[in-house]
Amino acid sequence: MKKAVYPGSFDPMTYGHLDIIHRAAEVFDLLIVSVLNNKEKTPLFSVEERVKILREATKDLPNVQVDSFSGLLIDYAAEKDIHVAVRGLRAITDFEYELQIAQTNRKFSEGRLDTMFLTTSLEYAYLSSSTVKEIASFGGNISRCVPGFVADLIYEKYQIKTRSNAHEQQNRADNR
Ligand code: PNS
Repeated sequence: MKKAVYPGSFDPMTYGHLDIIHRAAEVFDLLIVSVLNNKEKTPLFSVEERVKILREATKDLPNVQVDSFSGLLIDYAAEKDIHVAVRGLRAITDFEYELQIAQTNRKFSEGRLDTMFLTTSLEYAYLSSSTVKEIASFGGNISRCVPGFVADLIYEKYQIKTRSNAHEQQNRADNR
C-alpha cells in the first residue's frame, strides 16, 4: 500500500492545499493530511478546528484521512510507517525553505522519509493562508481562496458578520 503524509499548518486550509490533496490522493492509496500542533505559533484556528475544516473539505475523498501531530515529522511518519511526505511548491520563493526541510528530514530519518513535491496549479500559485487571513481581516472577498464554509468561519473569527456584509463594506469603502 502506497502511503503518504501531507503535513502543514493549514491555518486555514485554502483551495491551494485542497488542490494538492486531490492530486496526491490520485497518486497514493492512502494520504494522511496532518496538522502540525506548533505551540510557538499563535494560530487563528485551533488544531481541532483545522482538523474539522480539513475533514469537511475532504469528506468525498475515501483515501484521505485527517490527523494532527506534534514534534518531528520524521518521528510521526515512522510511527505511521509512512516513507513519503508530500508538499506543494508555489514559486521559486518556496523552494529554498522546502529544500532545506526535505533534505533535513531525509538525512535525519536516514533515508526513511523522502519528500515529493507537487507544483501548485497556476490559479492558486498566489495563495497563502496568511494573505487570506489578512484580506479577510479587512473584510475583503476571499471566495476565490477558500470554500464558502471556511470563509464564513474566518469572517466569524474576525467578527465580520457575513460575507455579503463584507462585500458591502468593501464596496462602500471603494466608493468613498
Ligand atoms: O504549512 P507549513 O507551516 O509551511 O508547514 C511546515 C511543516 C509542518 C511541514 C514543518 O514545519 C514541519 O514538518 N514541522 C514539524 C517539525 C519538524 O519535523 N521539523 C524538522 C524539519 S526542519
